[in-house]
Amino acid sequence: MSQHTAQKKHTSEQQVVIHPSILYAGNPVALITTLNSNGETNISPMSSVWELGERLVLGITSTSQAYDNLQHEGECVVNFPSSDLWEQVERLARTTGRNPVPEQKKAIGYYFEPDKFSCTDFTPIEAEDVKPLRIAECPLQFEARLLKLHQPASLSQDDPVAFGIFEMQVTRVHAHATIVQAGTNHIDTAAWSPLLYVFRHYFGTGPDLGRTFKAEA
Ligand SMILES: Cc1cc2nc3c(=O)[nH]c(=O)nc-3n(C[C@H](O)[C@H](O)[C@H](O)COP(=O)(O)O)c2cc1C
Repeated sequence: MSQHTAQKKHTSEQQVVIHPSILYAGNPVALITTLNSNGETNISPMSSVWELGERLVLGITSTSQAYDNLQHEGECVVNFPSSDLWEQVERLARTTGRNPVPEQKKAIGYYFEPDKFSCTDFTPIEAEDVKPLRIAECPLQFEARLLKLHQPASLSQDDPVAFGIFEMQVTRVHAHATIVQAGTNHIDTAAWSPLLYVFRHYFGTGPDLGRTFKAEA
């Protein structure tokens, strides 16, 4: 008998073409801390985040304060909250550090918040390589420097490309000891439960299903 679990076969008749308004298939949530021009730290929830090697890429709308801060200062901390922190993240969801609030954001209920930490129970702590503060409660925090700001392609002449692709280099990784395999550089994946953003709903992860052949631990 095969060791593999039998997979149900899908045929094209069982599939439908849909037109979802958003394409958030499921990414980790990150809280990006950046420095405002007054030296205070701003917090911006993001899910357009991916990593490869030492690089990390962020997709940030140009109406965000994070866009301006990162463009000017070139530094951030990418703080990854655990799934139990989702309500803290949601407290930040309607806020922007930009004043005045851009019209399209005001129309859907965003408001200006100069002190994002005050909306949450989060604790600010110093970073080591960069000026923006870290969020102590986030179990994983990457300090990062801007390598390049890429301009996305326009889909058509009428497409006002409204975001930037920020290519960052991760310079330092901080992790809570509780999610690190003691005495190693490996994350204990049984202990680390990232918060995921799936079609605008928050999720945690389930149990470990298995490892890829390259996994070191
Ligand atoms: C869970 C979540 C994920 C988000 N992901 C992104 C994202 O990937 N890119 C983006 O530009 N905005 C994203 N947003 C919206 C920003 O958080 C929002 O524009 C916010 O006002 C940014 O704050 P700032 O203007 O102070 O930088 C997300 C919001 C939430 C709640």
